[in-house]
Amino acid sequence: MNRVFIIDYVSEGDCLFFERHAGGEKSLLIHIEKFLHSEQEDIHEFSELAQASGVEILDLLSVKGDQPNPRFFISSGKVKDITNRVQLLCVELVLVNGILSPTQERNLEREFKCRVLDRVGLILDIFAQRVRTHEGKLQVELAQLEYMSTRLIRGWTHLERQKGGVGLRGPGETQLETDRRLLKIRIKSIHARLDKVRSQREQTRRARTKAEMPQISIVGYTNAGKSTLFNRVTDSNVYVEDQLFATLDPTLRRIDLPHAGPAILVDTVGFIRHLPHRLINAFRATLEESVNATLLIHVVDASNEEKMEHIDQVSLVLQEIEADHIPQLLVYNKIDKISGIEPRIDRDAAGVPQAVWLSSLNQEAIPLLFEALSERIAQSLSYYSLKLKPEQGRLRSKFYELGVVIQESYLEDGQIQLDIALPKTMYDKVMMNDAYHIS
Ligand code: GTP
Repeated sequence: MNRVFIIDYVSEGDCLFFERHAGGEKSLLIHIEKFLHSEQEDIHEFSELAQASGVEILDLLSVKGDQPNPRFFISSGKVKDITNRVQLLCVELVLVNGILSPTQERNLEREFKCRVLDRVGLILDIFAQRVRTHEGKLQVELAQLEYMSTRLIRGWTHLERQKGGVGLRGPGETQLETDRRLLKIRIKSIHARLDKVRSQREQTRRARTKAEMPQISIVGYTNAGKSTLFNRVTDSNVYVEDQLFATLDPTLRRIDLPHAGPAILVDTVGFIRHLPHRLINAFRATLEESVNATLLIHVVDASNEEKMEHIDQVSLVLQEIEADHIPQLLVYNKIDKISGIEPRIDRDAAGVPQAVWLSSLNQEAIPLLFEALSERIAQSLSYYSLKLKPEQGRLRSKFYELGVVIQESYLEDGQIQLDIALPKTMYDKVMMNDAYHIS
């Protein structure tokens, strides 16, 4: 399959094409050395990103970043070497692990005579392939359009061809001006649609908050195993792949925790370092789900040598979206890949679970996670012991329906004693509604 990197926006019948060198699957990766201790990890992650986009990697070159050339981002000597390599291997696409200015990208394309994509373009391409919800799609399209709008140059785009041309052009407009104007119109219309979808989402979120169920969001570095854990816990069938960014949209499921009642479990997008700021904004929808959580499950790939750095990176993003105040339960995942570690719960001096070690591939450790979650969520619950008269059967059923009953016993006077644990707000709401029904 000759997958080209023409950004192709198709939405409700509209379609705009921006053409550059068509690109293809045969790619050459250029890593720019920054002399970081995590260099190897960076290269590894870059290759994984490229693989996730579905390209065929022919070669990976590491280039020193100490003598950058403003025209090309890399030194002109290196540009020559790379051009030779591109010709020799018949490369169709060069991926650069850095953020190129539009001019640098264009200059490199001229030299290499093939498509060049930088890190932002690559991440956007992956996002575009993986995104599932309507809102997600709009956000990706918007991010792509905004990215492209800085890269429009005469001769690259032929918007009028796809749109029929005649009648589209304003008086005295050059091709470039027409393209810019069409882009602006498109961006504006997406903004308007996004506003609408956002307000719908906000309404759903409010309805959920009204139900007062505690919300648990799964966060973590990309590829840590969040979706696998989410599936394991909910037995649901969310899209899982051994690739980065398999999850782009929030996915919600109700779970029932022993002794702590129902909760909503939310799967979120994987965090990644050097994620350009505007992409964080573009994916705020999924990250916002984290902000509204009662508890965060922070999933860490325990088998990864860089796990401490990944934890720090996730904490930075959490700070950025103002979710760093939310209590966290660490889940050290993938222990099947480390020898000598058994599933376990780590507790602090007060006995409160702080971390769970498990393998999401293994069903047996999941009850441990439920135990830790129940204890952590239970801390935010209030406990009530009620005596219900026989005619209060409706109230009794309501508490059962909510899954918050811990224990029930029949008293000698014919009443029922019901021990329940639930958020105080939820209790108040049920009692208020019930008082209304009974009276
Ligand atoms: P993003 O969507 O990129 O954020 O990834 P994610 O954190 O949701 O990771 P995902 O669940 O897609 O898992 C990534 C890869 O790790 C998949 O190949 C999983 O099968 C694998 N994986 C997940 N959990 C475990 C585990 O406990 N042990 C092992 N060996 N592999 C695991």
